[in-house]
Parts: sequence; C-alpha cells; structure tokens
Amino acid sequence: SGTLDGSNAKRGLWSSRLAFILAATGSAVGLGNIWKFPYITGENGGGAFVLIYLICIAVVGIPIMMAEVMIGRRGGHSPVNSLRLIAERDGLKPVWRMIGAVGVLAGFLILSFYSVIGGWAVSYVGTAASGQLAGQSAEAIGAIFSGLLSDPVTLLLWHSVFLALVMVVVARGVRSGLERAVSILMPALFVLLLIVVGYAMTSGGFGRAAAFLFQPDFSKLTTSGVLVALGHAFFTLSLGMAVMMAYGSYLPKNISIAKTSITVSIIDTGVALLAGMAIFPIVFANGLEPGAGPGLIFQTLPLAFGQMPMGSLFGTLFFVLLIFAAWTSGISLLEPIVEWLEEQKGMNRTVSTLGAGLVCWALGIASILSLNLWADFAPLGFVPMLEGKTIFDLLDFFTANILLPLGGLLVAIFAGWVMSRQALENELSLSAPMFRLWYVTIRFITPVAVSAVFLYNLA
Ligand code: PHE
Ligand code: NA
Repeated sequence: SGTLDGSNAKRGLWSSRLAFILAATGSAVGLGNIWKFPYITGENGGGAFVLIYLICIAVVGIPIMMAEVMIGRRGGHSPVNSLRLIAERDGLKPVWRMIGAVGVLAGFLILSFYSVIGGWAVSYVGTAASGQLAGQSAEAIGAIFSGLLSDPVTLLLWHSVFLALVMVVVARGVRSGLERAVSILMPALFVLLLIVVGYAMTSGGFGRAAAFLFQPDFSKLTTSGVLVALGHAFFTLSLGMAVMMAYGSYLPKNISIAKTSITVSIIDTGVALLAGMAIFPIVFANGLEPGAGPGLIFQTLPLAFGQMPMGSLFGTLFFVLLIFAAWTSGISLLEPIVEWLEEQKGMNRTVSTLGAGLVCWALGIASILSLNLWADFAPLGFVPMLEGKTIFDLLDFFTANILLPLGGLLVAIFAGWVMSRQALENELSLSAPMFRLWYVTIRFITPVAVSAVFLYNLA
C-alpha cells in the first residue's frame, strides 16, 4: 500500500471523459428522476420544494459528487481501500470505515424496493404493448394500476425479473457494453420524454403545471419537505454510498472532476424536470391528485399514451427505456455490495452476487406486501414524522433521507478536514477562486446544511 500515484494505471482507466460521464449518468438517471421526483414534488406542494431541491443539488450535491470522485481517483482503489490509502498517516479510523458500511447497507435496502418499482415498469411494457391503454379514461387507468398493486404474486414475479436482470450483469462483471448502450438509450429516453411534454402542452394543463412546478409557494413547504428535498438530491445523484467514489477511481488524472460532475448533475436534473413537465400537465388536465404518491407516473403517463397518436408504440418504448435507466442504476446499487464481499470477505463474484441478490429479493417481499396485505401496517407509526408509513415508505425514507445524507456528510468531512489542502488542489486543479468556493462549501456549508436539516427535523 501507500502508492497514491500510478495505482490507477494497473486497473485500467475509463477510455475517456465521455466513458466516465456515461457510466455515472447510467447510475444517476433512473427511477429517482422519473418515478420519485414527480411524486415527491406532488406530495410536497410543487414550486418551493423544487426550488429547495435545486439549491440542494447545487450547494450539497455537486460539491459532494466532486469530493467522492476526487477521493476515488486519488486513492485509485475500491472505496474502503482508497479511503485507507488517503488516510494512511493515522490509519483508517472506524468512523471513515462507516462510509463503506453505509454504502453496503444503503445498497441492500434501496435495491430491495427499487427493484419492486423496476418491476412495475416491466409490467407496464406488456400493458402498453397489448394496447390496453388506448382510449382509456383516468378511472380505467387507475384501476389497472390498483389491480397490479393488489396482486402480490404478479408483483413478486416482476420484482424477480428486474432483480435477475441486475444480477446477471453484476455476476458477469461486464459493463463495457452498458456504457455504449447508455449513450444511445439515455438520449432516446430524453426524446420520448420530450414527446410526452409535447403532447402535454396540448392537453390543457400545461400552464397550471408550469405554475405548480416553478412558482414557489413557501406556505406549502414543510420542515420534512426540506429533508425530503435534501435526501432526494443524494438519491438522484447516487451520492452518499461511495458509488461515485468507486467510479472516480477509474477516471484519468488529466480530466476535470468539476466539469464532469457538473455535467452529470445537469443531465440528471434535466431528466427530472422534464419528467415533471411531462406528468403534471396530465395531472391537472384530468383533475388528478398531484399528491397521489408513488403511483403518480403509472396513473398519468399511461393516460397520455392512451390518448396520443401511436401511443401504444411510444408507451412500450418509454417503459422499455425506463427499465433500462433503472437497470443501470440497479447495477450500481448492487456492485458496491458485491465488491465489498469479494474484497473484505474473500467471496467470489458469483457467490457474492447470488447471496446479496437473494437478500435484496427477500427484503423486497416486505415492500411488495406493503402495497397490499400490509398496506395499513405502519410499524413506526408512533413516531410523529413516520405516521402512516408502510415498510416500503420507511425503507425509502430511511435510506434517502437519513442514510445517504449521513454518508455524504462523512465524505464531506473526510475531504474537507482529513485530506491535505495540497492534495485537494492537485486533484481538482481548479482556478484559485473556484477552489476556494468548493473548499468553503465542502468544509462548512455542506456539513452545516445537512446537520441543520437533520436537527431541525428531530426537534
Ligand atoms: N440515482 C438513482 C436514481 O435516481 C438511484 C441510486 C441511488 C443509484 C443511489 C445508486 C445509488 O434512480
Ligand atoms: Na437520478
């Protein structure tokens, strides 16, 4: 150990800046953008929530992404080993080991419900392709969705299919083809979203949707809404669980960490905003409820596909592309667990993938039952903030709003207070004012903002 420079060369690097951006975008863009962002925006009253979310991306998300990528590249190894190499002077204290542990735990918990939602998308490919959506009313579309939720066996089937897709790629340890696919399929998803936005503009709800999304009304924003916005900044950018750290270890030295991190963040934010502009016009034009919850996109987009010309084709394509986006994110959730099992527990890749996948699969069953048989079961309902939350809601809440911000906080403190300023300046190679801006943010603004939101919510 101890070689900080040159260690990268032995592991092979991304062929270019583009390859890194594609891999990181594959992880970032997923259900978080298209499924979660619209529904939490609807639940939290729109504009003011969106504004806080955008501020969190800029002030917390981008600086932490830069820190993760930078630590990964500096260390040139897996996250835990990179941290250890960098903190060499006094060894890796248990508190920094926690970054790896948070990553593994968050990976398990997130993938368990992420895969259930991925399964909804798998199921909707068939629904759209069979022409069932054509010309349906909002009620009929709603009934198709409730029908799916009320059927644990079907949900389990699609959850298993989605998870198997993820496991196959991780077990084989191949990702080269995936990056190339991202470069074609992500733009295709973007175009399909644009088509839905185009349709949504004619639906009669566009003005109200734009006002809902972009005219902040702070009377609608709650303390827990701020926590959700902050948590979502981590979730959507895949931060706080060392995913970007792992990817950063393959980034060539001469590439700008700031530019690549900002690019990935802008793409991710763009996809989320586009999803919002596709969905909310349909909500308002059809008198649906913006706060309908996790089913929002499955109750609105199918309505649009049922009404627009060539809707069955566009709908099928859309859900296929959504599965692809979720798949590349799911791979990045499972990969750190498998790497950690290989490295720390000496297990081989196939066994680790099967073992970790099986745990996620079993955990997923609790989320599936939360949608039907256990829909009224709120295990932590006695805590005021968690009132009425099912196991599924709790997993989502705990990972995005607590675990990931905690991981991110540790990353910020490690970068800002453990690493030497010289090392940071060398890795980031920013102009002096830009470096100072990042340094102040990562040392003070980010930790204070995350802690303040935490404490305020506890109080
Ligand atoms: N960023 C992904 C999404 O928005 C989810 C994710 C979170 C992936 C954390 C990896 C790590 O869908
Ligand atoms: Na995302």
